[in-house]
Amino acid sequence: MSKQSIFLVGATGETGTTILNALLEDGSFEITCLIRTSSAGKPSVQALKDRGLKVVTGDLTGPIEDIVALLEGIDIVIAALFPGSLNDQIPLLKAAAQVGVERFLPCNWGTPAARGGILTLTDTKGEVHDYMMRLKVPYTIVDVGYWYGMSVPRVPSGKFDYAIFVPANNIIAGGTAKNMLMDQTDVGRFTVKAIKDSRTLNKRVYAYGDLLSQNEINEIIERKTGENLELNFLSAEDVSKEKEEAIKGMEAHPREISKMYSVVNWQYADTKYVRADNTPENAEYLGYINGRDLYPDFKWIRFEEFIDDMIAGKGRKIYPHLQLSI
Ligand SMILES: NC(=O)c1ccc[n+]([C@@H]2O[C@H](COP(=O)([O-])OP(=O)(O)OC[C@H]3O[C@@H](n4cnc5c(N)ncnc54)[C@H](OP(=O)(O)O)[C@@H]3O)[C@@H](O)[C@H]2O)c1
Repeated sequence: MSKQSIFLVGATGETGTTILNALLEDGSFEITCLIRTSSAGKPSVQALKDRGLKVVTGDLTGPIEDIVALLEGIDIVIAALFPGSLNDQIPLLKAAAQVGVERFLPCNWGTPAARGGILTLTDTKGEVHDYMMRLKVPYTIVDVGYWYGMSVPRVPSGKFDYAIFVPANNIIAGGTAKNMLMDQTDVGRFTVKAIKDSRTLNKRVYAYGDLLSQNEINEIIERKTGENLELNFLSAEDVSKEKEEAIKGMEAHPREISKMYSVVNWQYADTKYVRADNTPENAEYLGYINGRDLYPDFKWIRFEEFIDDMIAGKGRKIYPHLQLSI
């Protein structure tokens, strides 16, 4: 059987890297990585070439004929873009419709939430989905809960500092809301399962590696490290105030990436811990199919294993290029 051809946008990003690794691990795909022209000289792009990958350069905001030409012969498009560039999927979708691709994975890989002001990211992603569906492009929307790597508090010894992006020491609304969580490695592996599966065509699909509250996460970490966490307890009202402040900050400094991340951070605090949206029940309510039911033999990496690796010094800082104060 001939290999399916994949066009991967964002192969050097956090999500794109895990998807790329899983595609390579699977071995049944011809992969083309799209790199925007301005990034062609980055060491991360050279690293793709060093791995023997096919890299093409182009710009999603450039002439549509150029994108169509890049997509000729492509079966599946995966858009794992920087969340600030979500609208660049519009011309990509236009080109995908013209070429007649088998499947398009729009940039998602997040937590389930209704649209309408809960998460700005979800609203923008939803507008892209609307556009995709108007064009009748075949699709699979993949959501994965929240990454383990973004769910870890700082421990007093500083043992985890080498791998923490933003410490999760704010315990919100009592810390009891359960959340779907996933290891980044499994984000890629789950995505590859979904694209090989006809049952996920024109569906939203979700899964998780563990379902844990903040209190359960903290119990695991205290038990495994023997340290007592220093936590800040915030109410739902505190989150609401922080969110308003963050939005004002972003409106005052729209070009500052840390301001955008701050809004995202507080909106996530609200949806995950106050509204408790990041649950299997909410995903089912929103019409998703359950990836854990589809793949009962999948060996999900558990949160405890992730913490064992952090303790053993095998963790990895996500977004190593970003220094944020949020
Ligand atoms: N579930 C979770 O906990 C979680 C956490 C974080 C993110 N996410 C989701 O994961 C998805 C991807 O985000 P991410 O954080 O993984 O992305 P990321 O690390 O910021 O990576 C973005 C990638 O897209 C490329 N890129 C950016 N703009 C582009 C453009 N206009 N044209 C072509 N390539 C472009 C970047 O390359 P260059 O900049 O080098 O060109 C990079 O390879 C988003 O939907 C986000 O919401 C989920």
